[in-house]
Amino acid sequence: LARNFSSSSALQSTVKNVTVIGGGLMGSGIAQVAAQAGQNVTLVDVSSDVLAKAQKSIGNNLNRVAKKVYKDKPQEGEKFVSEALARIKTATDPVSAAAAADLVVEAIVENIGVKHQLFKKLDEAAPAHTILASNTSSLSINDIASVVKRKDKFGGLHFFNPVPVMRLLEVVRGAETSDATYKTMMEWGKNVGKTCITCKDTPGFVVNRLLVPYIAEAVRLFERGDASARDIDIAMKLGAGYPMGPMELADYVGLDTTKFILDGWHKKYPQETLFNPIPMVDKLVSEGKLGVKSGEGFYKYEKK
Ligand code: NAI
Repeated sequence: LARNFSSSSALQSTVKNVTVIGGGLMGSGIAQVAAQAGQNVTLVDVSSDVLAKAQKSIGNNLNRVAKKVYKDKPQEGEKFVSEALARIKTATDPVSAAAAADLVVEAIVENIGVKHQLFKKLDEAAPAHTILASNTSSLSINDIASVVKRKDKFGGLHFFNPVPVMRLLEVVRGAETSDATYKTMMEWGKNVGKTCITCKDTPGFVVNRLLVPYIAEAVRLFERGDASARDIDIAMKLGAGYPMGPMELADYVGLDTTKFILDGWHKKYPQETLFNPIPMVDKLVSEGKLGVKSGEGFYKYEKK
């Protein structure tokens, strides 16, 4: 009996149908890893152009994976790619896409108002057992969950860019996330090939809570004139063994994104001086110097 019970509960918690909302950088990667793991995926975006681009880039990425994994078996590689692609449907209506989902992962624009509008609709449309999750980087899971009734079936699934390559998944428990939901999220993360860590709903979870203030402190050090950008980067690479220095990391992440996260946290936690605005970042952003993507930040880049 005990065995029957455990196997049926394991079956119940298995996620087979995933709806990913937002077909941009993160959503397309999340759709890819779920499809690669054998799940049926519906990828939703407001823009059908974005969906077409996402399918193309997922196809390219899968081909790259196939070349590596099925080096000597090109036919199996082709099968792997076509089967994974066939598991991804696309749609522009989140409501009908949620109706068949066991899990919905949201990866739309980082704006609490837009996320609220979406989750209200999803909460009404999705079956009772469906888990709703957000891939937010900087917003609070509890704040996002405030508009849904199923707070026990809501949590954070925070991936890293590029999703198919980065091995970490932060599984975030909100104040009311149930044990069963948490367990299913952890299992799902493992199924899609990630190493999962658990975190409470605190600003930035683990990685960004440490990384953003670290970048901020590096910029403040530079701003005070204590060291050059290049020397700060060399110091952290050769002295701390980091693969990238904080100034080049800031340029890579984007100074606008760094500012957006700091400003949001500063507003919510004005007491925390680590989250204070940085005049130099504000100035660079106002001049359109956003880092790698604009051609200049702390360093200059050749435009592609
Ligand atoms: P992105 O801009 O590449 O993609 C967002 C997509 O959402 C766009 O294609 C847009 O058309 C679509 N969208 C906007 N509103 C929508 C709606 N109401 N319904 C359906 N689709 C909608 O953004 P990105 O970088 O993929 O980020 C998405 C989320 O993932 C954000 O919450 C961000 O904080 C989070 N995140 C981003 C990371 C990164 O490195 N870029 C890392 C981890 C999390």
